[in-house]
Amino acid sequence: MKGNLHQELRQIVTQLKGHLRYQKELGIKTLLSQQEAKNHLTLNEIRREMGDCERCRLHEGRNHLVFGEGNPHALLVFVGEAPGRNEDLQGKPFIGRAGELLTRIIEAIDLTREEVYITNILKCRPPNNRNPKPDEIKICLPFLLKQLEAIRPRVICALGTFAAQTLLGTENKISALRGRFHDYQGAKLMPTYHPAFLLRNPHFKKAVWDDMKMIREEYKKP
Ligand code: URA
Repeated sequence: MKGNLHQELRQIVTQLKGHLRYQKELGIKTLLSQQEAKNHLTLNEIRREMGDCERCRLHEGRNHLVFGEGNPHALLVFVGEAPGRNEDLQGKPFIGRAGELLTRIIEAIDLTREEVYITNILKCRPPNNRNPKPDEIKICLPFLLKQLEAIRPRVICALGTFAAQTLLGTENKISALRGRFHDYQGAKLMPTYHPAFLLRNPHFKKAVWDDMKMIREEYKKP
């Protein structure tokens, strides 16, 4: 009897190990309780909830709502400010000149765009790429927060002032925030300069590279 129980337990442990290994291979990094799993929307569900969004004025001039793209189980998520002209035309984040630079930055830390997830604080382009307005951020932010909850990344890289200040709930300057990790609901958040700013101010590349090396070290931890 005792022997049988022991054997059964061993079988359960072996099966559980196999199941966890399988989940890990799928990119699933944390186990959710039943209640959490119930409250947990997938990225597709969040996109459906946004629908043909008319919650703020930005829908008036848009061609596409730019939700975000990449690996739904990414260890690393990049959050920018808002779609620009090219992004609005094609419905994808960071595909203009700033996007090309972001792609090179991602590759420099041994990743591809497909392995990370890329999104923005605002999902629609502000006219003439003006700064996001507080009411637009307030309306759009809940969807980003749900995206981050769905992905549960280990590291978040906030690109530029708006992303960093919005996610950290501070008005501190990006120059004071960057260079170190901040706690963001169990994830590590690294603010850094926005790629569009880097294109105009290439001498800040060294600072961004320093931030990226810290990000690489963090996501590579076993
Ligand atoms: N700048 C951003 O902040 N996001 C984009 O998607 C493109 C440019």
